[in-house]
This record gives sequence, C-alpha cells and structure tokens, in this order.
Amino acid sequence: MSDHQLRVSKIPRGTVIDHIRAGQALNVLAILGIDGLGGETVSIGMNVPSDRMGHKDIVKVEGRELSQDEVDVLSLIAPEATINIIREYEVVEKQYLERPERVVGVLSCPNHNCITNADEPVETKFEVLDDGVRCEYCETIVREDIAAHIAVE
Ligand code: CTP
Ligand code: ZN
Repeated sequence: MSDHQLRVSKIPRGTVIDHIRAGQALNVLAILGIDGLGGETVSIGMNVPSDRMGHKDIVKVEGRELSQDEVDVLSLIAPEATINIIREYEVVEKQYLERPERVVGVLSCPNHNCITNADEPVETKFEVLDDGVRCEYCETIVREDIAAHIAVE
C-alpha cells in the first residue's frame, strides 16, 4: 500500500497494534490504560478495510513499548493482533500473540470478597482456561466479556 493510501500516518517510534478484531480497539486502549489524559500521542483506526480480516481495528501508540503483562491480556481479547515495535519509522520487531497461561495485574476480580478487592497490596492473578479465566485467589471464573474486567487505573 502506498503512503498516500494510509488512513493513519506512520509513526516515528512506539508500538503499532495491528489486525485487532473490529470493535476491540477501545478495549485495547483500556488494557493499555490509555484514557487520553496521559499525554501520549495515540492514533486509532476502526473498521478499517483489511484483505485478511474484512475489517480490522488498529491502534498506534507513540513513544511507548508494551509490557509482557499488557501483551498477555491483549492476547485474550485480540488473539489475531500483531504487535509491531517501531524505531526510526521502521518495524524492528513483529510479535504474534500466544494465549498466555496466566495474566497478572491487569484484570480485576468480580468477587467483592476477593482479597484482591480488599485494601491489600495484592496483584490480581488469573489462570487462563480454554473458555475464560479463573482468579488464583478466590477461584471465581470469568467466562464472558473479559474486557469488562480490565482494571482501569
Ligand atoms: N507502521 C506505522 N509506522 C511505521 C511503520 C509501520 O504505523 N513507522 C504500521 C503500518 O502501517 C502497518 C503496521 O505498522 O499497519 C505493520 O507495518 P508493516 O510490517 O510494514 O506492514 P505489513 O507488512 O502490512 O504488516 P503485516 O504483514 O503484519 O500485515
Ligand atoms: Zn478473586
């Protein structure tokens, strides 16, 4: 695709999360803790035509790379996504997502009595099942709409 056809410009440095299932871009932003107030430059494409997927979402975050914990939760809600690390306008690394065994610190437990919801310095930990995730502290299972349990800072 030539540059004049790009809907969202190339970025000098940062992370491009590409091939996100259409409709998931805002959940991706929630996982990354991006609410527009942090000052980062972020570009979002929604329902962008894609040869491979029909339509896709794409998120470009300038000046930032992702932590493994963020990548793990991303892989739950956007398993087809590709993470491109950009330096000096070039893609220097392309990561394909794998379903993680556990996700730490990004989801919150829906059980109000869970230790992770008390005022304790305990990070949430969820074991990844075939059809959901299970809190490692109280064993509560979240099957539907995992994105709704993303802890927002
Ligand atoms: N990109 C960007 N800024 C750059 C370089 C790349 O925003 N400086 C974006 C591209 O627009 C594309 C994604 O990062 O959406 C991946 O770039 P590239 O690997 O060059 O594209 P493709 O080969 O089409 O990627 P894939 O094979 O993963 O579809
Ligand atoms: Zn719990």
